[in-house]
Amino acid sequence: MIKLGIIGTGGMANSHAQNFASNPNVKIISACDVIDKKVKEFAKEYNIPKTFTDIDDMLADSELDAVSNVTPDALHSQVSLKVIESGKHILCEKPLATNYPDAKKMADAANAKGIINMVNFSYRNSSAIQKAHEILNAGKIGRIMHVEASYLQSWLSSKSWGDWKTETAWLWRLSKKHGSLGVLGDVGVHILDFTSFPAGKIKSVNCKLKTFHKAKNDKIGEYELDANDSAVIFVEFQNGAIGTIHTTRWATGYPNSLALRIFGDKGAIRIDLDKATDKLEMCRGKNIDKFQWETVECGKTPNIYERFINSILTGKNDQPDFNRGAEIQKILDACIESDETTSTVEV
Ligand SMILES: NC(=O)c1ccc[n+]([C@@H]2O[C@H](COP(=O)([O-])OP(=O)(O)OC[C@H]3O[C@@H](n4cnc5c(N)ncnc54)[C@H](O)[C@@H]3O)[C@@H](O)[C@H]2O)c1
Repeated sequence: MIKLGIIGTGGMANSHAQNFASNPNVKIISACDVIDKKVKEFAKEYNIPKTFTDIDDMLADSELDAVSNVTPDALHSQVSLKVIESGKHILCEKPLATNYPDAKKMADAANAKGIINMVNFSYRNSSAIQKAHEILNAGKIGRIMHVEASYLQSWLSSKSWGDWKTETAWLWRLSKKHGSLGVLGDVGVHILDFTSFPAGKIKSVNCKLKTFHKAKNDKIGEYELDANDSAVIFVEFQNGAIGTIHTTRWATGYPNSLALRIFGDKGAIRIDLDKATDKLEMCRGKNIDKFQWETVECGKTPNIYERFINSILTGKNDQPDFNRGAEIQKILDACIESDETTSTVEV
């Protein structure tokens, strides 16, 4: 039985608690949040015996084996380094950090300590992306030439997830001072992982970031609304392919939509997670001249929470680990540099 603690008991912590609670190999024994009322309510909902408002107190518990770090982005590095130092296994939310040097430090510390470390690139939970990785690695669509990927959200134009003008869970995401890298760091990080996992390593980026005016003086309370809302990235892959990856919070009509198309010289694949997370479409062989797509059933894949626990049980660190988190963070840094210098930046 793995004894687990959750740090940061806001919105996303519910997903961690629900998934770990349903795993017969896990017992959630503690939760920690700086807001006492919040952590107590969370603990009550998920039947968690111990609550803390201080991370060090929680980590001092020798019973604890593993920790989920579900704090806001700006705290990932600081909190994770403490967890690693304490020798507990760690699942950290994305993005791994707010810059590459911090992410690399976390990956190096985790590797040196020999603990299991994973980053929650949760769209790896789709069996379609696992299958796409397998298909491309087996060379089934040949040499990859062209890639197109998007991650579209609309919480700036729609209130279906709440009101960003009044709720802190959205406001910190709009503010650089609060550690946000905007849409690029929030969900751009997912689509960069989602795309480069099957398509291969990214060699260079040319990125345009845009922050749209959306409140008086671009400020609400303590929150300066200066983090990017839209990102368009032209990418070149190490294998020679080129492509575009884009993401925005202004995609009216799309709540949370990931799509990927990869074209090779022997075929193509496409994934639309709005349609299915366990199916992809492929155009290959005789279908190429008929513009026909066959549906590939992708079965089931363990989710990251299951992979994390299995990694602890087997001692074999599954993907995506902190090294991968740091690799993606390096691409985020290159995107920011590219936007600032209006130039193509090698990753
Ligand atoms: N993988 C995914 O698909 C996915 C989806 C949503 C959010 N996230 C990530 O999860 C993280 C949390 O996002 P959220 O939406 O739950 O945010 P949130 O603001 O709802 O929750 C964060 C919680 O952390 C607490 N906190 C702040 N400082 C703390 C500290 N020093 N110690 C302990 N607790 C502290 C806050 O009080 C709050 O309750 C972010 O990094 C976000 O990017 C990932």
